[in-house]
Amino acid sequence: MRILFIGDIVGSMGREQLQTYLPKLKQKYQPQLTIVNGENAAAGKGITEKIYKQLLDYGADFLTMGNHTFDKKEIFDFIDDAKKMIRPANFPTGTPGKGIDYVNVNGVEIAIINLQGRTFLPAIDDPFQVADQLIEEASKRTKVIFVDFHAEASSEKLALAWYLDGRISALVGTHTHVQTADNRILDQGTAYITDVGMTGPYDGIIGTDREAVIKRFLTQLPVRFEPIKKGKAQLSGVIIDIDQKTGKAEQINRILITEDSPFFS
Ligand SMILES: [Fe+2]
Ligand SMILES: [Fe+2]
Repeated sequence: MRILFIGDIVGSMGREQLQTYLPKLKQKYQPQLTIVNGENAAAGKGITEKIYKQLLDYGADFLTMGNHTFDKKEIFDFIDDAKKMIRPANFPTGTPGKGIDYVNVNGVEIAIINLQGRTFLPAIDDPFQVADQLIEEASKRTKVIFVDFHAEASSEKLALAWYLDGRISALVGTHTHVQTADNRILDQGTAYITDVGMTGPYDGIIGTDREAVIKRFLTQLPVRFEPIKKGKAQLSGVIIDIDQKTGKAEQINRILITEDSPFFS
C-alpha cells in the first residue's frame, strides 16, 4: 500500500503546483491513495467549496486541514457535506466537520485522522487523548491508520509519534511549511516526519509576501499577510509504503520539487 501525502497547499501557486505535478508524481510513484493538506488553499487562509472540488479534480483523493480550517466563512455551509475532507479531530465538541474518516482502496480500509498541536497554537482539546480514542475506534476496522498532525513544535510532533508508535502506520507533521529531513520508521513500525513542508511560493516566507513579514518583525505593527501569486514555486510531499496486512510502514521518502531541485522523471 503506497500513500502519497502533499503538504499545505498555499494559494493559487500551490494549487497550480498540484495541478502540474500531481499527475507526474502519480505516474512515477503509483500511489494507491493521495492525501493533500488544504488548510491554506484559498489565498493562504482556509478553503472554499470551489477550491475543495478543484483539489479533488487535480487528483487529490482526500484532504486534511489545520488551524486555518474555518478562516473562510463559507466553510460552514459545506464542511458537513464535504465527504473527502477532515479537520483536526481535537477541535472542541460541537465544531462542524469531522476529524476521522475511512477510505477504501482496493478492498483495504484506511483510517485517516487529522489532529492539531497545542504548543504555540490555540489551546484546543488534548491531541494525545483524542488520538487514543480515535485509534481504538479505527483499530476495530483496520490496521492501516494515517495521521496528519498539524502542529508547530517539533517536540510535540515527535512526542505524539513516539506515543503512537506501533499503533498507527504513519504520522506526518504539517503546519510549519518547512520540510524537515528526519523522515524515518520508528521502532514499532510507524512512519514519521516532523514536517512535510508546503506547496506554493518558493520565495516567500512560509508562502507569504516577504516584505510584509519582515515589516511585522521590524515594527511589530499589524500587517496584512498575502500569499505570493507569481514567481518561483515548490511542492513538498512524502511517499509512504505500508504493509497492509500488518499496518506497519516499510519506508517513507521525501519529495521536494523546487527551482533548485526540479522534478525529473
Ligand atoms: Fe499551513
Ligand atoms: Fe497551519
